[in-house]
Amino acid sequence: EKDLIVLGIETSCDETAASVIKNGTIILSNVVASQIESHKRFGGVVPELASRHHVEQITIVIEEALKEAGITLAELDAIAVTEGPGLVGALLVGVNAAKAIAFANNIPLVSVHHIAGHIYANRLIKEMTFPLLSLVVSGGHTEIVYMEEHGEFKVIGETRDDAAGEAYDKVARTLNLPYPGGPHIDRLAHEGTPTIDLPRAWLEEDSYDFSFSGLKSAVINTLHNAAQKGISIDSKDLAASFQDSVIDVLVTKTVRAAKEYNVKQVLLSGGVAANKGLRKALEEAFKQLPSIELVIPPLNLCTDNAAMIAAAGSVLFEKGKRSSLALNANPGLDI
Ligand code: KG4
Ligand code: ZN
Repeated sequence: EKDLIVLGIETSCDETAASVIKNGTIILSNVVASQIESHKRFGGVVPELASRHHVEQITIVIEEALKEAGITLAELDAIAVTEGPGLVGALLVGVNAAKAIAFANNIPLVSVHHIAGHIYANRLIKEMTFPLLSLVVSGGHTEIVYMEEHGEFKVIGETRDDAAGEAYDKVARTLNLPYPGGPHIDRLAHEGTPTIDLPRAWLEEDSYDFSFSGLKSAVINTLHNAAQKGISIDSKDLAASFQDSVIDVLVTKTVRAAKEYNVKQVLLSGGVAANKGLRKALEEAFKQLPSIELVIPPLNLCTDNAAMIAAAGSVLFEKGKRSSLALNANPGLDI
């Protein structure tokens, strides 16, 4: 049988990325141009700046991905591109690049939801077995997604305020750590001890929803109160206490959902999946549940990349999905 070769394009936030995937699971190339250095001095992603960087980088990154893969445009079976959610001006650059290449070379176009991409990063490691759950934790999303088959996503719980990554970045900012703060908090947390009492938002007993804004405020208040009283707080212990609270809620709810939905697999997805504490806590929790397989992608497939978009796009393409050349960016797209 002929191989399925898919080019993936991702520009929803601050990484310009392109990748070529064979048969949905084999990475032939995975190119990511990060803009983090440009946004750092502003303490977060500046949307206008992100769009401009994507315009500069997109063609170079796509050419590089094709060259590294040793694939010509004529050999592509489909182009998969992130339609949303994300920053609209950033998404438009990827969507338009994908449309231009698809139109000029008569290649089918497949739009992909960014979170579907994060979930399918796992398929580059391990074949999916259904039913499964994915804990999706990124800078913009925190949700538990249930899947009974390929391409079908049911959100059973989501954040009611801040995403986990957003809380990490905001707490990092109050501790004067550089953007993105997640990896810095993660590092500090491992040097500290969780001695500071911080809240855990369990919400209603049967809810799989999350809330992190109260925790974030508690961290900020702890720092303020200490400063007023002239007491110094060890930022390592504060980071460790914050990380403990986030991980406790994420892991507890994921384990409960995995049991209730009787799943065969649990997949960890999104930028916060790079968190060492979270990876370890999930591994320990699922060691007690040997009938459920835990899959955790390597760090470079957790943060934004285009291999995950090509992986999701390959499955959607095989299911018959085709997007028209009227495809637009959709910053608030539902999964
Ligand atoms: O998935 P992603 O690359 O972009 C979005 O789609 O949002 O996730 C980025 C987020 C940022 O908030 C970043 O601080 C967080 O992932 N992150 C981490 C770690 N590495 C990245 N959070 C906690 N611990 C980490 N090691
Ligand atoms: Zn992402």
